[in-house]
Parts: sequence; structure tokens; C-alpha cells
Amino acid sequence: MNNQKTEWETRFGREYTQRNMFTPAELDQLYLDRYGVTRTGMNHEFLDFLDRDIMILEVGSNIGNQLHLLHNMGFKNLYGIEINSHAIEKSNKLNCELPIYVIKGEALNIPFKDSFFDLIYTSGVLIHINPKNIGNVISEIFRCSKRYIWGFEYFQDEGYNEIEYHGQNNMLWKTDFKKLYLENHPELKLIKEKHYHYLENNHLTDQMFLLEK
Ligand SMILES: C[S@@+](CC[C@H](N)C(=O)[O-])C[C@H]1O[C@@H](n2cnc3c(N)ncnc32)[C@H](O)[C@@H]1O
Repeated sequence: MNNQKTEWETRFGREYTQRNMFTPAELDQLYLDRYGVTRTGMNHEFLDFLDRDIMILEVGSNIGNQLHLLHNMGFKNLYGIEINSHAIEKSNKLNCELPIYVIKGEALNIPFKDSFFDLIYTSGVLIHINPKNIGNVISEIFRCSKRYIWGFEYFQDEGYNEIEYHGQNNMLWKTDFKKLYLENHPELKLIKEKHYHYLENNHLTDQMFLLEK
């Protein structure tokens, strides 16, 4: 087991979850303060054209807030996989009355058959995968998606660099993740990409992209 996975499964992942116990409305406010647009606003811009009945999977869904925001947009078939058991417990408690189903699962080995979902996404998760495993994670997402792959990740134009994260090494890396998908799976095409700059730290940029198989 690599250090990154062990950390998210245990103490580090539990502490992250406890630090980020926002309501979906608070998460939207956090995005508004950081980028000048809510996450719901971003979601509408990228996903409004999609049928609300499609099967959606989030890889690394933590307490399910991103899935909850998609539910608020009208999406009805929402699944998540997550490696931290504490986060799964919280997610299932908080969303027990919604059609949001989160199970234990690891990005390197997604526990679903080929093309099971219409859309698979990550939000702040590829950045936490060790570069030696990223190709396999991307291939797993590609394998389980019938049509769309959506991502929101920290962005770096050139190279693939490690950044210290909460005082720890071997936990966070930045690159152009859309480019990695396109290089690893040339049959994917880019439908839309947008960069979101931080209002306060405007040297920092996050990237949202939508790819189609
Ligand atoms: C920064 S949080 C993002 C949570 C959520 N996607 C969001 O946008 O609010 C990263 C999440 O990915 C999970 N994670 C990290 N590595 C994972 C892996 N290899 N497989 C599945 N989940 C993972 C962590 O436990 C954590 O809940």
C-alpha cells in the first residue's frame, strides 16, 4: 500500500473530513469566496445539457457534498466511492433521504463493470494520487464510463510537481490532468474546459474539464 492511500484511509483522511464538514450551501459559499462563482454555478455551466436520469459516479466523494449539489440540480442516480470509512459513514448519514449511494472503493480498482456509468468525475482527487498510479486511475475511470469524464482539479500548465500539503509530503501533485486523460486515451475528446483563478491568490488556478468518449 502506498503512503498516499494509507494516509487518506486513516488519520489524515479522518482529519480532512472533520475539517470539511460543510453543508452543501456552505460549500457553494466557499467556492463563491474563492473563485467568485459557486460550485453550483460551475456545475450548471458544464452539465446543464445532460439528461437528469444518467448514472453518475464520483470517485473520492468524501461526505457527499458534491453529489448533493448534483442532486439539487435534478440528477437522480448518484453514486460515490471513497476510501475513508469515517467519510462514508458521514456521507450515508447526511444523505440517507437522497438517492446518493456511497460505498467503500479505491480509485485504482473501481468496483463496477465496464461502461456502468454515463459520467464519472473527480473533484480534488486526482491531485492526491501518486503520479506512479495516475495512469491506472485514469484508465479505471475511462473503463467504467460509458460516455463522459468530468474533472475539477488544481491546475499547472507545464510539468508534474509535488506540493507540500498540510505539512506532509507525498500527498499532493499538480499538473494538467485533462492533458493526461487525452494522452492516455486519445479516443477521448475535450468538450469544454475552463480555468478558475483564485480571487485572493491569483497565481493559483483550478481547472474544470469535460471529456467525451
Ligand atoms: C480533497 S477530498 C475531495 C472530496 C470531494 N470530492 C470534494 O470535492 O469535496 C479527496 C477525497 O478523495 C478520497 N481519496 C483519496 N485517495 C483516494 C483513492 N485512491 N480512492 C478513493 N478515494 C480516495 C479521500 O479520502 C477524500 O475523501
